[in-house]
Amino acid sequence: MTAVDLIVKKAGARTKKSQGTAWGKIGDKIDKISSARPDDHISTILAEMRELDIGRPDPNSFYRKRELVQPLGKAVLKRVGKTYDDFFIYPDVTNGQYTTSAVSSIRYLMGCVRDDTTAIVELGSGWSVNLFQIYVGLGQTRSKTIDYHGAEYTDEGQAAARRLAAHDGKINYHAHSFDYRNPDISFLNDVKGHILVFTRHSIEQVDVIDPRLYDMLAALDAEVTLVHIEPTGWQRDKTLLYRRKAKDNRFFEDIGGLMLSEVSSRRRQLENAAWWSWRLDYNLNLSTIIGQASKKGQIRIVRREYDYVAAANILNPSSLYHLEFVRGAAVEPTT
Ligand SMILES: C[S@@+](CC[C@H](N)C(=O)[O-])C[C@H]1O[C@@H](n2cnc3c(N)ncnc32)[C@H](O)[C@@H]1O
Repeated sequence: MTAVDLIVKKAGARTKKSQGTAWGKIGDKIDKISSARPDDHISTILAEMRELDIGRPDPNSFYRKRELVQPLGKAVLKRVGKTYDDFFIYPDVTNGQYTTSAVSSIRYLMGCVRDDTTAIVELGSGWSVNLFQIYVGLGQTRSKTIDYHGAEYTDEGQAAARRLAAHDGKINYHAHSFDYRNPDISFLNDVKGHILVFTRHSIEQVDVIDPRLYDMLAALDAEVTLVHIEPTGWQRDKTLLYRRKAKDNRFFEDIGGLMLSEVSSRRRQLENAAWWSWRLDYNLNLSTIIGQASKKGQIRIVRREYDYVAAANILNPSSLYHLEFVRGAAVEPTT
């Protein structure tokens, strides 16, 4: 068997047991650090265990203000069709070349928090590493009036997060059991004001999520912002989505064989991401749900950024979908 033969093989979805084992080990590590270093701040533990990646709120502000660097930064942004009007993509240098980078995902989420935000919720939260980073970024004073909710599939992920919250001792943190195939967000029923709900590489794990999740969010009393950070940008390509839905294994095996050809082309990036998704039975219906909800006026799309960063794996890049639920929209329930 050649390397390419090995590479194109389908692996299938990750099991709950395997994910639980992984989060169980994270829980053990949190216990160990917390017992050995009880005075260490939660930010230190996050930085050591995975990441503390908050970045600048508006990396373009320097370029906008400084006459000398302004034209060059503008030219670098122009190459990728961006301007200083936006804060999302900013000029950068990598490996001796001018390039661009994207604002930190955690910083973006922090920017979605409003004065009247009373709850921040991550669905498919694992050990809530994203929620804890937002908490560190917002600080304890602002967080006094915010409840942080980690809604997670595995018991082990919930337990690890509870442990880290207990180490902090001040965060209003709640862990809930949650399954995208049978969603229950009743823990938000009594929340007033504004809720920020987000997902980060968790919908990816579920081939078909229950679209009624959107109806449940729309039915809440509070105003709802929903941000997905998911590797589903390839779903915008009709052919790739059609082949995935048709379970065309041969098509994706062939794409897998092309993985290393023309690596600087946009097409290769898109096809490789679709291939990765096929290989692990990743999500198929997020972009359809967003499209339908937008069409029926249930949500307003504030921002969509395809394949803007690949934090852990260039085969599995994140796309961002920032949505606002339209209050009082009279829409047919999703079936
Ligand atoms: C790659 S991890 C990401 C975790 C977290 N969002 C993060 O950024 O660290 C995927 C998460 O999705 C969760 N997950 C898998 N299947 C799920 C399901 N059916 N419903 C809800 N979450 C699920 C897993 O338990 C895991 O915590």
